[in-house]
Amino acid sequence: MRELLGPEPILARDAFLLDPAVAFLNHGSFGATPRVVLDAQSEWRERLEREPVAFMVDTLPGALRATADRLGSVVGAFGDDVVWVDNATTGACAVLGSMQLAPDDEIAVCDHVYGAVRNAALHFAKRAGARVIEAPVPFPIDGPDAVVEAFSSIVGPRTRLVIVDHVTSWSGLVFPIERIVALCRDRGIPVLIDGAHAPGMVPLQLDALGADYYVGNCHKWLFAPKGCGFLWARRDRQRDLHPPVISHGWGKGFHEEFDWTGTRDPSPWLSLQASLDFVDGLGIERIRAHNEALLESAAAYLAARWDVAIPSPVAMRRSLCTFRVPATGAVDLDAAMTLHGALQRRGVQVPVWSQGGGLWLRISAQVHNRPLDYVRLGDALLDVLGGA
Ligand SMILES: Cc1ncc(COP(=O)(O)O)c(C=O)c1O
Repeated sequence: MRELLGPEPILARDAFLLDPAVAFLNHGSFGATPRVVLDAQSEWRERLEREPVAFMVDTLPGALRATADRLGSVVGAFGDDVVWVDNATTGACAVLGSMQLAPDDEIAVCDHVYGAVRNAALHFAKRAGARVIEAPVPFPIDGPDAVVEAFSSIVGPRTRLVIVDHVTSWSGLVFPIERIVALCRDRGIPVLIDGAHAPGMVPLQLDALGADYYVGNCHKWLFAPKGCGFLWARRDRQRDLHPPVISHGWGKGFHEEFDWTGTRDPSPWLSLQASLDFVDGLGIERIRAHNEALLESAAAYLAARWDVAIPSPVAMRRSLCTFRVPATGAVDLDAAMTLHGALQRRGVQVPVWSQGGGLWLRISAQVHNRPLDYVRLGDALLDVLGGA
């Protein structure tokens, strides 16, 4: 089977700087930024450099707040409840670092948690003599009930925070966060949603969600330049929330503390306006429909080509799908890195993980992808495994 019929891209690949020789199937890790957005970023930088003092002092505070309002309209939040961070990890560290943990307190996560966020939880827990409790979520998975059951089984009287991914990293699953939030609220436990992948990929209504904290990246599925993350916090949580870097805004309120954490290049945040113009130009519903249709046709194609099952139900997928690599032999980190390198040398960019005794490979679908990208992956993997 050599052909894959799926939707064609809804714009030319050269709208991005992506190397035309590479089948780029890892939009998830760092995103890819369109040329028009990079141009807008250059313009912001030039504006800053023409008069750095006037820009930082007079222009920047209002521009950041206006951009927060615009982002709020996309994620279903008041702009006032959104502050800027470099990335989701920084936002998670702000929440964890602001907690008053005591010995034997617990932070609950599951084993699909993003590694950097797990490390942050371990670090802040260790400083206080607290613990991180990790619930196993099966993968392959039949449906969202398994996620709710997993969290339900580990939260208890000592749980001070639940951290749950909206879209998981290595397994590419959309988790039932509304149900996890409800579970936590019933038990009076604060919940931090790690939405690193969600903005742009999944419709969001943060005000209605009822979580305590939500961190998201705009540099993945909203096409912003790298370093455009945000932290949303419920009003009653904002007063005791501080950024990892304390600067001039300390004690002056949520916006002042986060929007200035020392001198830095604010252009990734400011260029979000251009990213959202780009999204609006294509239509967010159209982008999502394209990505989901392409992902499903690609997943079905690859499953047949490699003779493997898709380990997740369609209801838990949007623009990412993870497969178990049909490899025999070692399944450790070295094997994952070797396979990744072998695919990269064949012109295919796709992440590979060693997890839970298996090797896993995650595909993504975005507006720059073509059906041919997945055909190349299908061939490349069989070539590497010696089965072409
Ligand atoms: C679920 C999840 N959380 C957090 C992150 C971290 O993102 P960043 O490196 O932008 O902080 C990622 C990155 O892929 C992720 O998938």
